[in-house]
Amino acid sequence: MERIKIIGAGLAGLSAAVRLAEMGIHSTLISIQPSERAQSVMAEGGINAALNTMGEDDSPAQHAADTLSAGVDLADPAAVEDLACHAPEILSWLVNLGAPLSRREGRIIQRNFGGQKKKRTAFAHSSTGKVLMTALIDECRKYEASAVVHRLCHHEFLSLSIREDHCEGVWVRDDYTGETFFLPGPVIIASGGINGFFPGMTTGTTSNTGNAAAQLFSQGVAFGNLEFIQYHPTTVRIPEKRMLISEAARGEGGRLFIYRDGKPRYFMEEKYPELGNLMPRDVVSREMFTISRETGEQVWLDMRGLSKKAWKERLEDLREEILYYMAIDPAKDPVPVSPGIHYFMGGIWVDRFHHTNISNLYAAGECACQYHGANRLGGNSTLGAIYGGRVAAQSAAAELGGAFPNVPYEGCSPEKPVSAQHSFQLRDILRDGLGILRDEDGIRKAVEKTGAMPVSANMMEEKRKSFAMAMLLSALERRESRGAHTRADYPQKDDEHFRRTTVVRYTDGAIRLSYERIGTEVHP
Ligand code: FUM
Repeated sequence: MERIKIIGAGLAGLSAAVRLAEMGIHSTLISIQPSERAQSVMAEGGINAALNTMGEDDSPAQHAADTLSAGVDLADPAAVEDLACHAPEILSWLVNLGAPLSRREGRIIQRNFGGQKKKRTAFAHSSTGKVLMTALIDECRKYEASAVVHRLCHHEFLSLSIREDHCEGVWVRDDYTGETFFLPGPVIIASGGINGFFPGMTTGTTSNTGNAAAQLFSQGVAFGNLEFIQYHPTTVRIPEKRMLISEAARGEGGRLFIYRDGKPRYFMEEKYPELGNLMPRDVVSREMFTISRETGEQVWLDMRGLSKKAWKERLEDLREEILYYMAIDPAKDPVPVSPGIHYFMGGIWVDRFHHTNISNLYAAGECACQYHGANRLGGNSTLGAIYGGRVAAQSAAAELGGAFPNVPYEGCSPEKPVSAQHSFQLRDILRDGLGILRDEDGIRKAVEKTGAMPVSANMMEEKRKSFAMAMLLSALERRESRGAHTRADYPQKDDEHFRRTTVVRYTDGAIRLSYERIGTEVHP
């Protein structure tokens, strides 16, 4: 039987490999870095599920409603309901695998997170990603020992072989030997977010270069909602990246303010009495951006009111990080914060079964456009990656069969590394066009500058330019404001024209953009 190939060994990739193994199906798990160094390990805040351990009468229906509302009606309701309904079962599975979620008197503790009306985010101190990954790595090892999962670590995805919208397999390169080879079979992409398009500007790792996305796009894989980029409200500039101050800090009582006449003004609490500092991230980031611009004042995060118990039991790692990087003790002094890029709601266009527009090709995790619509809730990315990986695995397993050629349709020659100069030039263009507040003029300038970048002999640089252009065109054409996409020139939401998924695809040498009904079967 042909092994299913999985690209990426973070939460989504591991989850897919384990689910396939549970069904007795063999897979090859391909990644540049070992799982222990995947971006997923960095997830701090938590994982959502309506376990109702805090006695708040929570339910999967309420979880789905909060997710859809934060996504401003752009997420697929059927997919989100599946996610929310399976969340409690996913959590108990993870606990059974040994994930030590934080507990009080034996019960899993759940805390407030942005945009949620109930305490629904389970966590493991400030290291949720690490403990979830450890549990899945361990489970996967069991199947590696019996050769059901075959690991190819330090192997880089190069390209797919696609014939008539049908995926035949994948080209990879062994980073140690430089050898390039072809692996036939169905492919699940779980390559994570495109942080590498924004070096120095994101909380995520730029080891996720975005080259996989650029390559897939160049081969005709359709992408959805690329204009929706999440700016997390509380980040801090540190060398070469942005440090995240987890939403957990506000979940435990942290408050945002600016100084007015020498006194703190808690602007979120004034404007949003119900959720205050815990409004969805797009709203908080926009308010911070606007108030800073209007007043010229720095925004501060005030954590002085947190109890000793909260610091000791739930936020100790965060306090240490702030002390280390900023020489501020957040229990005693406010911390200057500003929004930074944290997550990409858009990605490979998939339906609720994680099919892409190419048969035998599936995608899950942050690389895919699913569950989050125009804005993601904190705590839904870890859940979406694990659940999405399982669904993609089930779809790939159900459709397994047919012959795959050992000699692929197309050959492959590895690309040269992308130059730092190219990377920073493209980053600056995207930063100017795709900020928190956008308008036609700014996006058009970014489109023109991208088009005017000199043609490079390096094919990957050309593919990255084309992908960047697809992001910009998605933002240009969406002439409304919704979630993380705020247009100063179109401040209102326009359901009639834009309650649709933006789909971009590269075909016949050009980028084509269309709007598709939410919940469309991507590869019927
Ligand atoms: O703020 C945070 O801890 C981030 C969590 C998330 O993005 O899910």
